[in-house]
Amino acid sequence: MSLLLDERRRAMLREMGLPDWAPLAAAGTAAAAAAERADASDPAPPARGADAILAASPGAPPPNGPQGGGPAPAPADPVGPRARAAGGLDVVAPTAPGAVATMGWDDLRAAVAACRACALCESRTQTVFGVGHTRADWLVVGEAPGEQEDLQGEPFVGESGRLLDRMLAALGLTRAADGEQPPAQRVYIANTLKCRPPRNRNPAPDEMARCEPFLLRQIELLRPRIILALGRFAVQALLRSDAPIGQLRGRVHRYQGLPLVVSYHPAYLLRSPAEKGRAWADLCLAAAVAEGAARAPHPDTGAAAQARRAEPDPEP
Ligand code: URA
Repeated sequence: MSLLLDERRRAMLREMGLPDWAPLAAAGTAAAAAAERADASDPAPPARGADAILAASPGAPPPNGPQGGGPAPAPADPVGPRARAAGGLDVVAPTAPGAVATMGWDDLRAAVAACRACALCESRTQTVFGVGHTRADWLVVGEAPGEQEDLQGEPFVGESGRLLDRMLAALGLTRAADGEQPPAQRVYIANTLKCRPPRNRNPAPDEMARCEPFLLRQIELLRPRIILALGRFAVQALLRSDAPIGQLRGRVHRYQGLPLVVSYHPAYLLRSPAEKGRAWADLCLAAAVAEGAARAPHPDTGAAAQARRAEPDPEP
């Protein structure tokens, strides 16, 4: 954990009117240690002291996104033959198979809005594409829209979203797309599913498979410096792992060469506040990795993608 990050967090805590007490520094130390043994098999010990920052509001409504075991989704390329085979649903994707893989942001957003690749299109109010600046160093991947997200068209706007925003703010990060923040302070937030499963049930494997190309393309276009995968469905989609979050957190994974840190879903943290210390340690680990990555050459070495990053900022 760099001195710079430590000072920035302390400043943020002062701004939030929160005490800068020793256990929090220990969380940073634990995260730094975990960063050093990136890809090692032993997870970091839980950090303590973050509860004041991550405290949930009382009287929270039932959160979206249950956690638990479940099968991994079918492989990628869902808006094409494999997806159709995976689900066997007689619905039509207006997007040509494979077209998603070459889309820019505008076409991708339009394709998501028009998607009828699975039955969730029948029950959704609207699709939930993603939020944040498209020149963000951070990508947070969640599960699926809940009731509020379905109504408002933005990910993580319910109670778990407020918790997520507080966690991000504690590190000086924002989902705002219209400010003057540098990319290092910007977060793009997207979900594994772009449509709400009825009554917030778990995503089905065929729904995840059919929706997956959209998230993959978002990641390709964004090329973030750090991916934070929240909850088991994000992990299933990106790491193809059914292992419990507790086994995967505390170390740095790779998704297409990009560093990826696993943590608990905020909805789970609302139900299990004792885990907030670990979630805070995960965030500190991700921040340490992002800072380290910021000093290294960007992992995106493709000529076309480099040219994209050199372009002026598009509209978010
Ligand atoms: N939970 C998620 O995983 N995503 C949202 O957008 C809202 C709740």
